[in-house]
Amino acid sequence: MGLLISFICYGFEVADWIATASNYPAKLPILIHIYNYILIIFAAGLPYASPSGSSSILPTHNNDNMNTDNNLFESLSLLLRQDRSVRRFDNSVKISHETLRSLVGLTRYCSSGRNLQPLKYYLVTDARQCDMVFPLLAWAGYYKDWAGPEPAQRPAAYMVQCLDTRITSNCLCDDGLQLQAISLGATAMGLGGCIIKSFNVAGMATALDLPGWCKPLYVYALGAPAEKVALTDIKSDGDIKYFRDDTDRQCVPKRPLDDLLLN
Ligand SMILES: Cc1cc2nc3c(=O)[nH]c(=O)nc-3n(C[C@H](O)[C@H](O)[C@H](O)COP(=O)(O)O)c2cc1C
Repeated sequence: MGLLISFICYGFEVADWIATASNYPAKLPILIHIYNYILIIFAAGLPYASPSGSSSILPTHNNDNMNTDNNLFESLSLLLRQDRSVRRFDNSVKISHETLRSLVGLTRYCSSGRNLQPLKYYLVTDARQCDMVFPLLAWAGYYKDWAGPEPAQRPAAYMVQCLDTRITSNCLCDDGLQLQAISLGATAMGLGGCIIKSFNVAGMATALDLPGWCKPLYVYALGAPAEKVALTDIKSDGDIKYFRDDTDRQCVPKRPLDDLLLN
């Protein structure tokens, strides 16, 4: 597109030259110059046009090392599809404090209501602390005959997301945004995890000796995945409950796109 504009500009430059050379009325070259400047200003804004030509506020990078917007979208879609709740892990694979620290680092780039950034994380990697956290959690409410992973398949680490109530009593949706960033990050690292809301909040505060202003909101349990998870279409009965199939694979029904659209 930029090339096309350059050709148009060049065409007007030639017209300008002919007009000047053939002693056209004095105003014509000036008008051509003004028109040229408008085109050049318009062309300067073109980096903000999407590759498909439709307008977009996303900049397109011409750097070879960077993805185009379309590739970024596909990468994000792939990562989201891979980012499934995992509840069985290989407990022999340990996770370092540094790994969890880099996942918390991702949350710094999340949007934050009123930009308050009131969420803090308690990181649990130590085996003794893991043993204290595990009994406080409730796993897979739809599996009535499963109390959670057995010892060898328990998470190797936990991230306890807490609200700093000295900053606010309401974090709006910051908690969910940050959990999604953490879980996408863990998936990108080849790890698996599960967001857990059903847990003993008071027990967690006591077990981790959290200060009074620190309110546990969520637990993200993670480790090296030891189960396969697949997305499935919802059957005609509309049942959204996840289930394990004949091969012990965790299957998660998702509503079709058209069911999410109101118009
Ligand atoms: C806000 C929220 C709370 C959740 N709480 C629990 C929980 O307490 N225990 C659990 O085993 N899974 C929990 N999950 C995991 C969901 O069950 C899981 O996301 C859902 O079954 C869809 O599976 P998917 O994450 O693979 O798409 C929670 C997920 C979210 C987003």
